[in-house]
Amino acid sequence: MDMKFKTIIEPFRIKMVEPIFISSEEQRLNFLSKAHYNPFLLSSEEVMIDFLTDSGTSAMSKEQWAAMMLGDESYAGASSWFKLEKSIYHLTGMPYILPTHQGRAAERILYGYLGKKGTTFISNTHFDTTRANIEFTGAEAIDLPVSSISQEDHFKGNLDITKLKEEISRRGAENIAAVILTVTNNSGGGQPVSMKNAKDVSAVCHEHGILMVLDACRIAENAYFIKHYEAGYSDNSYEDIAREMSALADAFVMSAKKDGMVNMGGFLALRDVELSDACKNLLIITEGFTTYGGLSGRDMEALAVGLKEVFSPDYLHYRIVSTTYLGSHLNDMGVPVVMPVGGHAVYIDAAAFYPHIPVDEYPGQALVCELYKAGGIRSVEVGSVMFGKYDASGKLIPAPKELVRLAFPPRVYTQSHLDYVIEVFGFLIADKKNVSGYRITKETEFLRHFTAHFEPISNKDKVKQPEAESCL
Ligand code: F0G
Repeated sequence: MDMKFKTIIEPFRIKMVEPIFISSEEQRLNFLSKAHYNPFLLSSEEVMIDFLTDSGTSAMSKEQWAAMMLGDESYAGASSWFKLEKSIYHLTGMPYILPTHQGRAAERILYGYLGKKGTTFISNTHFDTTRANIEFTGAEAIDLPVSSISQEDHFKGNLDITKLKEEISRRGAENIAAVILTVTNNSGGGQPVSMKNAKDVSAVCHEHGILMVLDACRIAENAYFIKHYEAGYSDNSYEDIAREMSALADAFVMSAKKDGMVNMGGFLALRDVELSDACKNLLIITEGFTTYGGLSGRDMEALAVGLKEVFSPDYLHYRIVSTTYLGSHLNDMGVPVVMPVGGHAVYIDAAAFYPHIPVDEYPGQALVCELYKAGGIRSVEVGSVMFGKYDASGKLIPAPKELVRLAFPPRVYTQSHLDYVIEVFGFLIADKKNVSGYRITKETEFLRHFTAHFEPISNKDKVKQPEAESCL
């Protein structure tokens, strides 16, 4: 990047376009009520700006598309597999690599093997599928994120080392199946983890003979923060930082749909041959043979390229600057944004945005619905809809935070899309008082947020269009 000018341009130009259907307010209200007020149930064509997830939504580069033409679709020993294996080995330094169709398949294999009733997994924060895969085995998943740190602290994703030691001595190291360090800490606000914290976690785990797992689906974004905000790393490349972090762990689980820059893919990498043999059995039973797992040859080609592209300094700079641009504009307007902004998404504290909506009426779901109704923006609730539980009397045990996440699909939206989102928020600020909460009318036992049905508690929250003029 030329540092003479302060505008940071998208470091790509557009070769193929995907039209966006510009819907009316009336159409959106209709679409949303048909989707039972759950944006997961909308058709993507009904969405104008899709911030549901950064997962599998990346625009691929011309190099990735070209590589796909080289896909070797042989059942065993495909040349595409050896390219992918080499690029994963380069990143992780782990000799046993198991390809899977996405991250949760790698989780199911590893945690399905390690987890059973009476065992505990500890993490800075378990992602929802991670927690579900663990709890499904009968094991317990506990989150130990650092607490009470300043707004300016860049490593809010860290795991609390003091609490980790306490839990180990309380439960006994032999009952801890693994410690999972999630980088960046997605459910905790997309916040990065420092190298120091990763080193401390590694030291504690290895002192007690506990397996340390990196849930590394955003390890390149995490490396950006380490290079820019942790002392001693400014001269290291992003890739070297990621490799240094990988070297601290015993296992590496990756949903390649994030920093792999592909639409589908994942893998599990391990250091231990016995663990690898056990996991390979499960891989073959549930995903596929060891040289393709759940992937086609062309998927493996695209991923081998994506794992290199993601470490491009221009890409990572644009990526983090984009989320920061939206987050800091919203923060300046008085929207309660989790600051500093993390890598892949902007997180908003919906309980603070709608203080009049009690947690058991799901303020996050209200914000998600309002963003869609007002601007056709799809986001996701990361609060008591996603993580809430019920006590024996059926009363909601709320999640620790009521967040809404606006996750950026990599290389997909431009600055004018972000300016539009900022303008929509201007409208939501003015309309806050008219918004009421939601109740759940249908839900499943696990991962209910994907399919739950909702209804508004009051009908008075009217739908209005954002003002035409920019509110900046
Ligand atoms: N771990 C983390 C930290 C994740 O963010 C995800 C997925 C997974 C594991 C599971 O990977 O989807 O490939 O099976 N996160 C997506 C999201 C779904 O929207 O944050 P997967």
